[in-house]
Amino acid sequence: MTDNDKNTAIADSVADATASRPTSFAELARRRHTVRKFTAESVTDEQLAAVLETTSMAMTAANRQPQRWFAIRSDAARAAVEQCTTSLFDPPLYLLLAFDADRVWRNRYDGHDSGEVDSAIAGTFLSFALEEQGLASCWIGSFDRAKLTKLLGLPDNLRPVALFAVGHPVPAPEPPKIRNPWENSFATL
Ligand SMILES: Cc1cc2nc3c(=O)[nH]c(=O)nc-3n(C[C@H](O)[C@H](O)[C@H](O)COP(=O)(O)O)c2cc1C
Repeated sequence: MTDNDKNTAIADSVADATASRPTSFAELARRRHTVRKFTAESVTDEQLAAVLETTSMAMTAANRQPQRWFAIRSDAARAAVEQCTTSLFDPPLYLLLAFDADRVWRNRYDGHDSGEVDSAIAGTFLSFALEEQGLASCWIGSFDRAKLTKLLGLPDNLRPVALFAVGHPVPAPEPPKIRNPWENSFATL
C-alpha cells in the first residue's frame, strides 16, 4: 500500500466515524475548554489525520491557506519546544502552527498580511476538531518564536504562531465558563 493509499484509507475511516456522531457547533463551543492535564495515552496518526482534515476546512484570506502544521514527535524536536516555553503540560503530543509568509494575502489598503489571522482561524478549528474527537488541548502563545525557529531549523518564510499541547484529558469536572455577557462587547452603529 502506498502512502497515498494509506492516507485515503485513513481519511475514509475518519469520514465514516464523524458522520455517525453529529454534534452541534453551539454544543461544541460550550463544551470546549483548555486542558492542561493529560493522560499518558498517545495521540495516534489516525486521530491526528482526523483533526487535521477538519482543520483544513478553515477559511483563509483569498483561500491562500498559508497555515502549516508540525507534529512534534522526535525527542530532539520535543526538547526544542520544551526549551522555548514555560507552558509545559507534558502532553503526549505538541503541535506547532506556523504560516508561510510567502503565501499570505496582503490587504492592498495598508499592506497588512493575513498570516496571523488565518493561523488563528486554523488553530480555532483545531481546538473544536479535537473536542469533537474526545481529545483536548491548550493553546500556547507564550513561547520564544525566534529561538524555536532556530532550534527546529525552520526556513525564514515559516513564522510560528502557536504551540498546542494535545492529548486525552485527565477526567475532571468541566470548569465554569467565565465569559463576559455578549451584550457587553456588542454595539449597534
Ligand atoms: C492566543 C492564545 C494564547 C494562549 N496562550 C496560552 C499560554 O501560553 N499558556 C497557557 O497556559 N494558556 C494559554 N492560552 C489558553 C487561555 O488561557 C484560555 O483559552 C483562556 O483562559 C480561556 O479558557 P478556555 O480555553 O478554557 O475557555 C492561550 C489561548 C489563546 C487563545
